[in-house]
Amino acid sequence: MSSILPERLLYNTLQQRKSNGEILYYEIFKWKMKHAPGTIHRFCDSSLSDQERQSLTSWMRNLDDRSSCQRLQILFSFSVPCLHALEHILNLSTPIISAGAGNGYWEFLLQERGADILAFDQNTIYPPEMRYMEIMESNPTILCNHSERALLLSWPDHKEGCLFSLDCLRHYKGNTVIHIGELFGETLSTNPWGQTTSRDFQLRLGETFRCVSRVQLPNWPGHMDSLTVWSRAPQPVECYGAEMVFINSTNPRYIGWSDT
Ligand SMILES: C[S@@+](CC[C@H](N)C(=O)[O-])C[C@H]1O[C@@H](n2cnc3c(N)ncnc32)[C@H](O)[C@@H]1O
Repeated sequence: MSSILPERLLYNTLQQRKSNGEILYYEIFKWKMKHAPGTIHRFCDSSLSDQERQSLTSWMRNLDDRSSCQRLQILFSFSVPCLHALEHILNLSTPIISAGAGNGYWEFLLQERGADILAFDQNTIYPPEMRYMEIMESNPTILCNHSERALLLSWPDHKEGCLFSLDCLRHYKGNTVIHIGELFGETLSTNPWGQTTSRDFQLRLGETFRCVSRVQLPNWPGHMDSLTVWSRAPQPVECYGAEMVFINSTNPRYIGWSDT
């Protein structure tokens, strides 16, 4: 970083990163964005020269730079958590199972705030010393045994052809999916389904669940992440020739409107 990181934001050790449950990553995010190059959001603007774009992309993605966005994403998580997003999940008042939790940063923050949360991953990428909490070594079949929990998926697929998120949805028999990341049409990627979950996953999610709430997340340049909550759609009911599903929601963003 061109400016010196204040001592209160140091993140050298796991203990420092845990920060007694405070959301240190969000504080680092705000500090880093405050000191970002003024043109950072134009990193993929073809009207800039190759050299300008390369310098901006390096600020974001250079893995040799411990303070690049990508290094921070590996140390913490792909999406940046904020208090509003954590509280939105906590207010669901449901136990959770997180699939592909990585090092479990979001999960740790939720657990610190009282959530009943299990996390699993294939555990081949993040070594134990990087993990914020216990991450069970498992695969999507574990979800068959946890239909009483909401399924949390945060950036599960590393590329479009990845089957992981779809496998999770196939095995999950519960009623609530919490999705963190990009969704169809909300991405700067050339892939309109975004960088988080595959097309096949999102189509199946849309066919079997309905989005009932949404929270905007802090975004690193190049991301268009949000937190969305999805409720399983019940059997359809015939309504004057149209097949409709009943979703028990009062959220004015989705159901009608409210003047309060
Ligand atoms: C892109 S990382 C996201 C990590 C974390 N959720 C985050 O948001 O930072 C995807 C994670 O999914 C895990 N994963 C991929 N395929 C898996 C599988 N079949 N079973 C369990 N975990 C898997 C990877 O090991 C990796 O930790």
